[in-house]
Parts: sequence; structure tokens; C-alpha cells
Amino acid sequence: MDVFKVSGNGPLRGEIEVGGAKNAALPLLAATLLSDEPVTLRNVPDLSDIRFMVEILRHVGSEVANPEPGVWRLKAKELTHIAPYDLVRKMRASVCLLGPLTARLRKAEVSIPGGCVIGPRPIDLHLKGLAKLNCKVEINNGYVHVDASAMRGGPIFLGGRSGSTVTGTANIIMAAVLAPGTTRIECAACEPEIVDLCNMLVKMGATIKGIGSPELTIEGVEALHGCEHQVVADRIEAGTFIAAAAITRGDVTVKGIPPNLLGAFLDKLEEAGVPLEITGDTIHVRPYSEPLKPVDCITLPHPGFPTDLQAQLCALMTQVEGISIITERIYPNRFMHVPELQRMGADIAIEGPSAIIKGASKLSGAPVMASDLRASAALILAAFAATGDTWIQRIYHLDRGYERFETKLAGLGAKIERLKDTDLPQELLLD
Ligand code: EPZ
Repeated sequence: MDVFKVSGNGPLRGEIEVGGAKNAALPLLAATLLSDEPVTLRNVPDLSDIRFMVEILRHVGSEVANPEPGVWRLKAKELTHIAPYDLVRKMRASVCLLGPLTARLRKAEVSIPGGCVIGPRPIDLHLKGLAKLNCKVEINNGYVHVDASAMRGGPIFLGGRSGSTVTGTANIIMAAVLAPGTTRIECAACEPEIVDLCNMLVKMGATIKGIGSPELTIEGVEALHGCEHQVVADRIEAGTFIAAAAITRGDVTVKGIPPNLLGAFLDKLEEAGVPLEITGDTIHVRPYSEPLKPVDCITLPHPGFPTDLQAQLCALMTQVEGISIITERIYPNRFMHVPELQRMGADIAIEGPSAIIKGASKLSGAPVMASDLRASAALILAAFAATGDTWIQRIYHLDRGYERFETKLAGLGAKIERLKDTDLPQELLLD
């Protein structure tokens, strides 16, 4: 397996282009099942999760071509309605097949995805939404069985105990666009990735009103036609690069990211005193010498502070004088990065859903373990601010959501290498 060797190497400098969003591309790929005509997606990031979703789509019968890097052409002519456990269990987002298979075939059998390190990943709201579309939904032997022979539009409140659900909203929108009648979704997720999905569905002939708001009104249509669509920029990748620039007091220009996709994050960084210059779709993180200020931050559904940037903010705040409080309202256990940051010398206490971060800590390189996608990114950011070498194992987590991450960061002057676990220092090989 691959490992990263990362060494603090001073301020990052240069320009970086943001890629297409993983969390948009995955539901967009699933949405191609809704038409029997070809759909072409552009700006699709080259990630293991994407390759995985394509494998599942091929399995249910989609004809898939990848004519050039970042471009995927899919045609879902003859489909089967079963998404098997051995495929679904490896990637949660495959639950996004539920909506389109139900809509297109009026039946679906999709394995229930497992949980993951950031916490249980229930799908009760997805199932509630389908039931409100007059589908018969049963769970047995680890599969969701949907009979949508009598599916029709209707009113749905899709909020749960943590507020809206992103892939739950995606699933219900994809089911409703082919459900006869009017569907009104309240407490829909407003994430930019949901907006992107709605925009593509409208290109395919769907009728969706209220796009980007928590209230969506969908008029079902008979069928959807093919289209071409460019995947929206990845706001989480962009935020990760901005945090990397900030933690190294660097001078980095992040290009291709509409700032409105990152409102709460940019606001929090500005509150901390990170100098940001925003021009169009370019965000310039300027060097600073003044100490940053500690922050109090709570993760919330969009447009609140994104949970997927919580770990990165934790890493940055370890370098800030004072006490920062970062509260995780979406996944209360999403602090797998904290014990690893503590190994590097960070002073962080977990109190319920909050991380109490006392800064500024002198971080030193250490052997650490990646645990989930965004926690892995946080460890790299901390390693940039640490003295000495940090060895990060299990970086396959990172490869799920960051394309050529080490190459892009090295291009900004970071000292980061992808090596084999056999290259680990002797004392680590005994682990
Ligand atoms: C999406 O996951 C993202 N994944 C996650 O990104 C992201 O962290 C999450 O949204 C929150 O923004 C993709 O888009 C592929 P949710 P999703 O349903 O849709 C609870 C990353 O790092 N809930 O919005 O699975 C749930 O437990 C990944 O890129 C229910 O209770 O998240 C959580 O507390 C990690 N019942 C909250 O809602 C349900 O039926 C938000 O979950 C569904 C969710």
C-alpha cells in the first residue's frame, strides 16, 4: 500500500486549479440511469470513488465510455434493478442508485450501505421520501426492496434530526422527476452539489422549481432525454487548498472556485484573520505575519460551515494562539483526526460534539494513520506546519476524494512524496 512522507517546508506558493466535485459527480453519474439516451459528463475528477460508481453502473447495464480524461459518456438502455451488496458496501454513495432505478424501472433492490468511521450512515429519510411517493418500501436481508408500480408525486418533508440529507435529497429528486404528478420537497438539502444535479436534470427535460432553496417543486415527466453537463467545482478540495495555504502562511491563488460555494468557510477564515482576496472565481490567500485569532465554529447543512472542512479547520486552529471551539453537528463522532493530531503535539480535548483546541502548538512530525477522507487531508496540513517528517499510512482514504493530491501540493512547493509502505522507517514496519 502507498504511504505519504510529508515534511514541513515553509510557505506554499503558486497557483492551483480546482477540479470537479466528487460529491456532485457521484449523484450525476447515478442520474444518467434516468434516460435511455447518452449523457456526457465533463470535468469529472479521476478518483477511486468515481471509478467505483462507474463499475456499479456498468453492473446494472449502463454502457460506459471514457473517451478522454475527465469525460464520461453513459447510456442506460437496458437496466437491471439490483445493486448488489459486494459493490454497494464499498462505497456509500452508491445508495444514489435507489432513486433513478426506482424511477426508471418502477422497482429497485439496493443493498443497504454500511456505516463508516465518521459515524452511522442511516438512510431512513431516503426510504421515507420514497414511501411518500407512494412506493412500497421493504427492508430484508440487508437490501431495500422498492415496488414503485403505483408511484406518484406528493408532499415530502425530508428533514431529519441533523437537518437535511444530501444524498437523500438527491435520491428523492431523481425519483420524483419521473413520478406522475407534483412533488413538493420541504427541507431539501441546498448543497451546491444538489444544485448541480438539479441543473443537469432540467437540461434532461425535468421540471424543477426552487433550485438551491430548501423547498423544491417537481412536476413529473414521462421520460428524460440525454444531455452534456460540466461537473461543478469541488468546494471541499478548494477549501482544503486554502487551509493548506493558510497553515503555512503561504501565498497561493486557488482558481476555478466560485466564492459563493464556500461562503461560511471563507467567512470563518476571514474572522480568524486569514487575508483573502476574491476576484471572480479566484481566491488568493495572501501571506500574513499577524497572529491569527481563535474561532468558534459549528458545522451545519449548507449554507452553514461544511462538515467536510471541519478537520482541516481543526488542523489550522492548532497553530492559533488561544482557544478555538469546533462543534460537529452533522457527524458528532467525526474527530478521527484528533488523536492523530495529538500524536503530532496538538493540544485538543473532545467534549461531546466539540473539539476544544488550545493553540498555538509546536507540531512535530510523527507516524500517523489516515482514517477518513477529510481527516487524512487534515493530517497533511498539520504535517506542513510540523518540524520533521510525518509518515501517513492508509492514504487510500485520500485517493477516494482528492485527485493527484500530492502532485498538486508539491506544485505549490510542499515536500510530500508518495512511497510504498516498504519504504517506512524500520521502527514503523514493526507496527
Ligand atoms: C454527503 O453524505 C456527502 N457525501 C458527505 O461527504 C458529507 O459529509 C455529507 O453529505 C454532509 O454534508 C456525498 O455527497 C457522496 P447526509 P450523505 O445524508 O448524503 C443524517 C466526504 O467526505 N441522516 O447529508 O450521506 C446523517 O446521519 C463525504 O466527501 C439521517 O439521519 O450525508 C447525518 O448526521 C463524507 N437519515 C446527516 O443526516 C438519513 O436518511 C447528514 O447526512 C440520511 C442522513
